[in-house]
Amino acid sequence: MDVAASVQRLRSGKSAEFPAEATTLAFAQSLDAQDVIGHLRNEFIIPTRKSMKKTALDGTIPGQKATAASSETTNGTTKEEDQEIIYFVGNSLGAQPKAVREYVHAQLETWCSIGVNGHFRTLDNSPLTSWLTMAEDCSRKFAPIVGASPDEIVTMNSLTMNLHLMMASFYKPTPKRHKIILEWKPFPSDHYAIESQITWHGLDPKKSMVQLTPDNANFYISTDQILAAIDEHAEETALLLLPGIQYWSGQLFDIPRITAHAQSLGIVVGWDLAHGAGNVELSLHDWNVDFACWCTYKYLNAGPGAIAGAFIHERHGRVTFDESTGAPIFRPRLTGWYGGDLSVRFNMDNKFLPTPGASGYQCANPSAIDMAALSGALSVFEKTDMKTLRDKAVLITAYAEYLLDDMVASEKRDTPSFRIITPHDPRERGTQLSVLLREGLLDRVQANLEEAGIVCDKRKPDVIRVAPVSMYTRYVDVWRFMETLRKTLDEEETQ
Ligand SMILES: Cc1ncc(COP(=O)(O)O)c(C=O)c1O
Repeated sequence: MDVAASVQRLRSGKSAEFPAEATTLAFAQSLDAQDVIGHLRNEFIIPTRKSMKKTALDGTIPGQKATAASSETTNGTTKEEDQEIIYFVGNSLGAQPKAVREYVHAQLETWCSIGVNGHFRTLDNSPLTSWLTMAEDCSRKFAPIVGASPDEIVTMNSLTMNLHLMMASFYKPTPKRHKIILEWKPFPSDHYAIESQITWHGLDPKKSMVQLTPDNANFYISTDQILAAIDEHAEETALLLLPGIQYWSGQLFDIPRITAHAQSLGIVVGWDLAHGAGNVELSLHDWNVDFACWCTYKYLNAGPGAIAGAFIHERHGRVTFDESTGAPIFRPRLTGWYGGDLSVRFNMDNKFLPTPGASGYQCANPSAIDMAALSGALSVFEKTDMKTLRDKAVLITAYAEYLLDDMVASEKRDTPSFRIITPHDPRERGTQLSVLLREGLLDRVQANLEEAGIVCDKRKPDVIRVAPVSMYTRYVDVWRFMETLRKTLDEEETQ
């Protein structure tokens, strides 16, 4: 199969045209052999079947024993317990990059060796910058991932906190314009953040929240429908806040078109990119997005609850000075000392002068250990680029879809065991496929997958989300996943 031509087809919205032998293990292996970023898997520690069963710390790291002779069977293969699991939950919590360990250890050594001087000094051989500049270093690494200049990115807090900080600055309701447009099934935290911001302003969420609803049983919201809803509420809307990728259905929205349309009607536009950053190509600056926030523990692999990122378009980060008084003029926001310009931050004179750009939206001193983990995780992205990651993602996801479709097509039952609710068009999805199972199947499927050393995530009552993240997933992992699912469903059929 011509991989480059298939990627091109998929990127233009067409199907990949897999050959008849695509359902064989040999075919999956042939795709792995052509994978130009297959080596990136070595940058990660993937849990093993044995490590997944750990109940106490024992000083072992998954995979280390698997390379030792002790983990080999007599014919040279890896013992089952030392085999890496199939990790399909990178859309929830990314696997651990080896660099995260290295960077966190470097941080711990720096702290215990030079104490407070670590704020200003870097040790030779350290992958880290001084603590004072680590947030900027992370922003520099974020820049090509989200398509922005480093000055438009700030590394701080976690996602929900950043949504609140952004809304504090960008949601300015008036009696006429007070609505926030969101989608029908936002992640609960986004819903609560929006709802509470509205209440905080003394307004009624019932009157000020506009939820876009899907237009059919596929849980799909078309761009036209979104634009029509924007038109309908434009005169009363202050803010549009949508997820780049809807966490449940996996639908990727048309960020540039929606942004441009809403802004043309005077609406401020923010995006929650929890499922977009590190997953799909983004051009936040060129798309003229007002602000965006993302977490770093999914496709960016920085660890559970890791420090987050936010984008603020350069036009909102400018600092100018009043000609007569010399007072700084900048976009109102919630402030703290770390948003203060470094040239005066330590003057302690309580005269706030924001750092120009997104950094001026920081409030507090960010955790160096958090930033060490993030910096390590982002260093893996420096070994590739978003285009290459996305090229693989469109193909591996299409391959997963092809095998799923094949499975359903070969079923003999009247009601299919599942259907994929994520859009078929690769331009409207990232890496994740959401699979809506027939009622009552979820627990059995999940248990069988786990038993076979496969981890994917479930969203009750009936959805499993499958994410063959391109940085560390092999095509054979997709094939093995499908074989296990097929067996589980066959068993169901014969019962
Ligand atoms: C779309 C979305 N929004 C918000 C959150 C909450 O993020 P945090 O707890 O890091 O604030 C998540 C977490 O998974 C998410 O997926």
